[in-house]
Amino acid sequence: MADLDDLREGSEYGIGIEQKTRGYHLKGCSNLDWGVKDRLSRIFNPKTGKSVMLAFDHGFIMGPTSGVERVDLSIVPLMKYADCLMCARGILRSVVPPSLNKPICLRADAGTTILTKLNDNRIIDIEDAIRMNVSAVAVMTAIGDSDMEAVSIKNLYRMADAGMKYGIPVMGVTAVGKDMARDARYFSLAARVCAENGANIVKTYYTEGFEKVTACCPVPIVIAGGKKLPELEALELAYKAIQAGAAGVDMGRNVFQSENPAAMIRAVSAVVHQNMKPKDAFDLFQTLCRPSNRGRKPKQA
Ligand code: 5RP
Repeated sequence: MADLDDLREGSEYGIGIEQKTRGYHLKGCSNLDWGVKDRLSRIFNPKTGKSVMLAFDHGFIMGPTSGVERVDLSIVPLMKYADCLMCARGILRSVVPPSLNKPICLRADAGTTILTKLNDNRIIDIEDAIRMNVSAVAVMTAIGDSDMEAVSIKNLYRMADAGMKYGIPVMGVTAVGKDMARDARYFSLAARVCAENGANIVKTYYTEGFEKVTACCPVPIVIAGGKKLPELEALELAYKAIQAGAAGVDMGRNVFQSENPAAMIRAVSAVVHQNMKPKDAFDLFQTLCRPSNRGRKPKQA
């Protein structure tokens, strides 16, 4: 209990100094509640407005695919270079060190695997996400898939209700079925549907005409890397996405299947946060690959 007889009269009122109303660094997010913004600010660097998310949730539908056979050996050493980690709860609880204090984007829907029919999923209980103190939850949507579209949009909608109740942002992930055109028209539709159903972040794929996809999506977009490309091409992909208005990447295979994953994530980070040109980022990648440079801090662009 404060000492009542030492109740000093306040004198520093700053009369004449207007209280600044700060804007917010992410589009479409200014009207969200404080807790949601606080969590989003852990994921997206307030100085750059961007994020390098490291995705290693692949095992929850694919099992021990290349690069994530031993998350403790291959992914944990990369975590310090990422702004946010995206994974499923089993790996989070068993392998991700809580002492790292990195924001987590939790894969929050599950149900089927590549062995049967993908995306027939249910969402996890929001209380479990709260218990793990995650900074966002991610839900897959299968837009255009006549079997799974309705169930997956319902999942996203419900998760957005639960997320807003507890201040947890929701990422809508756009799955692309084998038969769907991977073009700006499809991704514009899919991203917009996610945002309209309550997603605070949308994860989609880069395509030609991506500026249309980002323009018509009212919330930040991050891109998945997709299948493994040569390093320079993956850096070009990230660069083009950022120049076209993406707020970051949520990359998996192009990082952890790289010949040097630690160098690759640092090069991707330079593209995302410093607008480094792909050629320069590739030079950085090669420099960081040299054994004598592995622990060094890269120069600012
Ligand atoms: C699929 C996902 C993955 O996390 C996503 O595909 C990112 O990984 P990659 O860069 O390897 O494509 O959301 O459910």
